[in-house]
Amino acid sequence: MDRLLNVAVAGCGYWGPNLIRNFSSLAECRVKQVCDVDEGRLAHMKKLYASTAVTKKFDDLINDDELDAIVVATPVHLHHQLAKKSLLAGKHTFIEKPMATSSEECEELVSLAAKNNLTLMVGHTFIYSTPVRKIKEIIDSGEIGEVQYISSRRLNLGLFQKDINVTWDLAPHDIAIILYLIGRPPASINCQGKAHVDKMIEDVTNMSLNFDNGGFAIIHSSWLDPNKVREMVIVGSKRMIVYNDNEPLEKIKIYDKRVEAPPHYDTFAEFHYSYHYGDAHIPYLKQVEPLKAEAQHFLDCIRTGKKPETCGLDGLRVVQILEAASRSLKSNGAKVDIDLDVGRKPVRA
Ligand SMILES: NC(=O)c1ccc[n+]([C@@H]2O[C@H](COP(=O)([O-])OP(=O)(O)OC[C@H]3O[C@@H](n4cnc5c(N)ncnc54)[C@H](O)[C@@H]3O)[C@@H](O)[C@H]2O)c1
Repeated sequence: MDRLLNVAVAGCGYWGPNLIRNFSSLAECRVKQVCDVDEGRLAHMKKLYASTAVTKKFDDLINDDELDAIVVATPVHLHHQLAKKSLLAGKHTFIEKPMATSSEECEELVSLAAKNNLTLMVGHTFIYSTPVRKIKEIIDSGEIGEVQYISSRRLNLGLFQKDINVTWDLAPHDIAIILYLIGRPPASINCQGKAHVDKMIEDVTNMSLNFDNGGFAIIHSSWLDPNKVREMVIVGSKRMIVYNDNEPLEKIKIYDKRVEAPPHYDTFAEFHYSYHYGDAHIPYLKQVEPLKAEAQHFLDCIRTGKKPETCGLDGLRVVQILEAASRSLKSNGAKVDIDLDVGRKPVRA
């Protein structure tokens, strides 16, 4: 397929305009239409992109025979409904995270895309970011030893959502990154949290993911924090990585630090932990907007027919973990076992 791909974006709220800007910047595609039910948002988009058609009706996208692909960036409760229409109309479909509100919805979309031979991709943006790719490379090289645990904090004041709690809003990013880095799904989940502002919607949660090889990850998500924090710490048996996504340039620092317990000791007096303090270093990272790489990947997958790195099954896995977290939240943090790989491909092929 050598011609320009025609793309439409549904949802021009906070995030949609970032997708519109990035798709518009790519030479291989044209953002032909954008859709929103809010006329104010459409008027704003028209000012920015004079040659792009605007519509309040999603069916105008469905009925446009020239459209190759639709990007869904609406509130989460509409993802399944709109993506299903898009796939049934034969359009390649990109859905923002989280893919849908239940695993049943995700499964239906995955099978529809497969049946109609269409590209289905989920917006797990961080998988396309240079720091996350670099961390994966470092872990796979063995430089930090065995990953012992990962701790992630994604905190800020707001943005409060009306249809999902803070876990479903913020943790999809951390879950997707952790699955990508560890390369296997967790065996069980615990999640605790509290609803302070809207008594029905948790605004602070703390989730732990337990892996069957003994690995462990913690995800703290909050809409009720004075500071914007985007930090992930990866503790290896030899070295430790701190990834601070708020840093403009030096997002990753690798610390040559570890603690070792003596292998043998006979008396308490002989027992000493050995603390190792070495250098820290900051790897060079190429500056690429992750969303641009993600948009480019979606177009490449449409052209070549290859499976996206964040395909529908990856989106489904993240939603299955979110569902397990919701079940645990309801029972005050009780352990919920999950078995994500029954009959399915491994997290990373
Ligand atoms: N990948 C990321 O890093 C990232 C970041 C932020 C948000 N998101 C995701 O993007 C999606 C949108 O989030 P947001 O913060 O922009 O929400 P938002 O509420 O700011 O915007 C949603 C927009 O969708 C419009 N809309 C509602 N119903 C519609 C319909 N039937 N057809 C067309 N438009 C409709 C609304 O009018 C609104 O303008 C969510 O899935 C969210 O999780 C992803």
